[in-house]
Amino acid sequence: MKLEQVVPFGRSLSEYREMFSLSVGDCSRNILGVGDGPASFNAEMTKLGHRVISVDPLYSFTGQAIKQKFYEVVDDIIEQVRRTPSDWVWTYHQSPDDLRANRLTALHAFLADYDAGKNQKRYVVGELPHLSEVHDATYGLALCSHFLFLYSDQFGLEFHKAALYEMLRVASEVRVFPLLTLKGARSPYIAPVVHSLEKQGFQLSIQRVEYELQRGGNEMLVVKRG
Ligand SMILES: C[S@@+](CC[C@H](N)C(=O)[O-])C[C@H]1O[C@@H](n2cnc3c(N)ncnc32)[C@H](O)[C@@H]1O
Repeated sequence: MKLEQVVPFGRSLSEYREMFSLSVGDCSRNILGVGDGPASFNAEMTKLGHRVISVDPLYSFTGQAIKQKFYEVVDDIIEQVRRTPSDWVWTYHQSPDDLRANRLTALHAFLADYDAGKNQKRYVVGELPHLSEVHDATYGLALCSHFLFLYSDQFGLEFHKAALYEMLRVASEVRVFPLLTLKGARSPYIAPVVHSLEKQGFQLSIQRVEYELQRGGNEMLVVKRG
């Protein structure tokens, strides 16, 4: 998979549950979704009475503009997926068409919630590595899906380290998924990031999860304050 920029593709609550092995207890924590983009995670969690704040630079745009950005890239991405059948695992999504349909469902659930969510300050403009609006230790759990490690070609090691430390400043636990790059290889930054965080006394584990779409992309990094 080759992408010029970080794409506004969003996943559902059911995918977040699998990617991050979210338990009932996890869902009742104060959650920060970092780089949630047009995922329907916040919308669906809010409907269930949970507390999620999503932060993403994308939220400086209107819903209409986000929708347009999505449609500008979706067909190219699905075509790239179709051309590389052995790179993907069709267990959660059944096919490239099903993947496209599921991304559309998530986008529309996000868009239906976006204006209300912005008014309620559940969708906040911000970006790693500085979440300057967020106070220390505000959240029980910070989640980052399909941004860190995935875009290792676009963002370097120092960015990744700074981003992880920043999420640990605002949350007592951080989970990141997947650990693969867009090319499907393990990110070269996993080992140095783990080394750096362990040296600072954080508790780390790499855990197997249910979700797998990129072949081999079925692990998350979990970091807790020591
Ligand atoms: C592929 S989308 C993933 C969306 C969502 N996390 C999911 O898995 O469904 C990547 C998101 O990262 C966001 N992003 C780009 N640069 C960022 C940064 N510096 N800090 C936080 N998010 C960023 C993009 O705007 C985009 O919404």
